[in-house]
Amino acid sequence: SAAEKGGYDWFMQKEIAEQPQAVADTLLGRVNGDGRLVLDEMRLSEEELRAITKIIVVACGTAYHAGLIAKYAIEHWTRIPVEVELASEFRYRDPILTRDTLVIAISQSGETMDTLMAIRHAREQHSRVLAICNTNGSTIPRESDAVVYTHGGPEIGVASTKAFLTQLTACYIVGLYLAQVRGVKFNDEVAEVLTQLSESPAAIAETLKRMDPVRKLARSMVGARTVLFLGRHVGYPMALEGALKLKELAYIHAEGFAAGELKHGPIALIEQDLPVVVVVPSPKRPLLHDKIVSNIQEIRARGAKTIVIAEDGDEAVAPYADFLFHVPELPILLQPLVATVPLQVFAAELADALGYDVDQPRNLAKSVTVE
Ligand code: G6P
Repeated sequence: SAAEKGGYDWFMQKEIAEQPQAVADTLLGRVNGDGRLVLDEMRLSEEELRAITKIIVVACGTAYHAGLIAKYAIEHWTRIPVEVELASEFRYRDPILTRDTLVIAISQSGETMDTLMAIRHAREQHSRVLAICNTNGSTIPRESDAVVYTHGGPEIGVASTKAFLTQLTACYIVGLYLAQVRGVKFNDEVAEVLTQLSESPAAIAETLKRMDPVRKLARSMVGARTVLFLGRHVGYPMALEGALKLKELAYIHAEGFAAGELKHGPIALIEQDLPVVVVVPSPKRPLLHDKIVSNIQEIRARGAKTIVIAEDGDEAVAPYADFLFHVPELPILLQPLVATVPLQVFAAELADALGYDVDQPRNLAKSVTVE
């Protein structure tokens, strides 16, 4: 009903707006002001966590994209190798699992059958399983050795939004906690990440205030047949997520690519007026940043309509951007917390402009309980 939507047109709009609170709730009591992480609920002992030699993240859909981003963060902070696998592929390929493998299952519902079967397989092989889940007492956390709940609150819209940002938040917490437990020295960079993570709800709220031009752009694009998404580093899984959102909601053919792969194939798809969304990393990472700026130049020279998401103050991309949206500055590993928001709004708004049901896209279910 309209009352349940609290004045919003759709649940998804409400859930996008709730993201600052959802992330704040997920951080609550876990990130202390003194620069240490507290995970009282972690049922794996510090000794067990110190013994881990490999992490495998298993998940589906949007949760899988959270896992892809988590890999960049967890490996960088802990130096533990991280693999990320679609849960539906996992047990069929005879994965290498030992007692010292930590399997992290990410699932909003905690009931996704592919993910459940993946963790059952992992436990049969004596690996430890940590669930990152939004639903108290659901099957996946019940069958796991440990659980870190995301405190996103109920998500009604089929396409995941606030669950995704809280999954990222939980992954960051787990990664930093592992680093802490394993005695990795928190250098200035990690200390900065912790501070910025605590302040990220304000950055997400600021991003939400800037969405009017994104809505307007989306509404002008009802004729689009294909939209491509490009990114590097954590921008690559963000590109995958932006494309998934557009497929799910607006039924528009969309693909996400690693920008470096452009020259190995996708650039052949570029033609006059093809919309291409590009997520640009911070200019503080010049090696990454400058490469993506030249990618944008290359596709624009071939006629692409470039829709660029860049950090505040980054004007280097302006000459090559048909549309330029700025998001607040965060350390690169945390950038998905803000830069995903315009991708969500873009897809939902375009779907609505096309007359589709944003909360209940055709053929999709909120939780898929069959393999
Ligand atoms: C379905 C939903 C997606 C979700 C995926 C995984 O496909 O439509 O939005 O990302 O399941 O769901 P889970 O509950 O395991 O996170």
